Order: sequence, then C-alpha cells, then structure tokens
Amino acid sequence: MSRTIKMIIGGAVALTAGANVALASDVTAGAAVFKKCKVCHSAVEGQKKVGPSLYGVVGRTPGTLAGFNYSPAMTGFGAGGAVWDAATLAEYLIAPRTLVPKTKMIFPGLSDEADRLNVVAYLDSLDD
Ligand code: HEC
Repeated sequence: MSRTIKMIIGGAVALTAGANVALASDVTAGAAVFKKCKVCHSAVEGQKKVGPSLYGVVGRTPGTLAGFNYSPAMTGFGAGGAVWDAATLAEYLIAPRTLVPKTKMIFPGLSDEADRLNVVAYLDSLDD
C-alpha cells in the first residue's frame, strides 16, 4: 500500500474514532494521561498555571477563558469560529502547533490515539 493511501485510511479511522469519543474512551486512563498536562494546566476551575484551567474546556471557544493571557494565535483560532469539541481537542493534541500555529503551548503532542481520546474524555468529565 502506498504511504498516501495508508495516511488517508489512518485519517478516516481517526475521524470515526473521534465521533465515538464518549463511547470508546476511558476517563480513568485519561486522568493518568493528564499527568503530562499538569505541569502547565489545572483541572480545578479558575486555577491558572502556565496554561489556562482546563475545567469546562469541552465546549469552550478557544482563547476565551477570562483572566488568562492567551497568544494571538489562540484567540485568533477561537475568533475564526473554532470550538473545543471532542474532535477538535483530539486533533489539537496530535500536534498543537499544527492546528494552531504559533500557539504558546509548548507541547509536542500525544502520539497515541487512545491517549488523546482518553484525556479528552477525562476533560469532558470534569464539570459533570
Ligand atoms: C509546557 C506547558 C504545557 C503543557 C505540558 C500542556 N499545555 Fe496546554 N496550554 C499551554 C499554554 C501556555 C496554553 C495557552 C496557549 C496559547 O495561548 O496559545 C495552553 C492551551 C491549551 C488549550 C486551549 C485552552 C483554551 O482555553 O482555549 C488546551 C485545550 C490545552 N492547552 C490542552 C492541553 C492538554 C490536554 C495537555 C496535555 C496532554 C496540555 N495542554 C499540555 C501550556 C501547556
């Protein structure tokens, strides 16, 4: 199989998985993945670190949490109509600077798809 075809199939699988985020992912496993984010992010409402609190982030417009000084890249991403739904978060976490060039989130990304889906499920559970 050519690389291109493999990439297309890989993308389709990722999209399908994204649509099933709530069903297929594991909140407990996601809490463990979140340890990688904790240096910079709190899961507690209103608690700012190097990055904004991720409490309630699912459904948030990027770059809009009051009191956090976002990069123009992130506020611009939100102003362009993006929303942090499960699929957008999962895509962002592959490689943050690919989806939001020049974001000041200096994190290479999560290479494992299950890790991405699980951490998004964990984030989604915070304000249940
Ligand atoms: C080295 C610090 C650092 C790490 C590690 C990090 N982030 Fe971030 N994150 C940031 C910063 C800083 C921002 C603000 C980005 C901007 O304004 O461009 C941010 C922004 C975000 C946003 C956008 C929030 C909003 O209100 O729009 C999400 C979502 C996010 N990070 C998720 C994560 C997740 C999930 C992880 C772990 C897998 C993670 N980050 C790891 C520093 C980090």
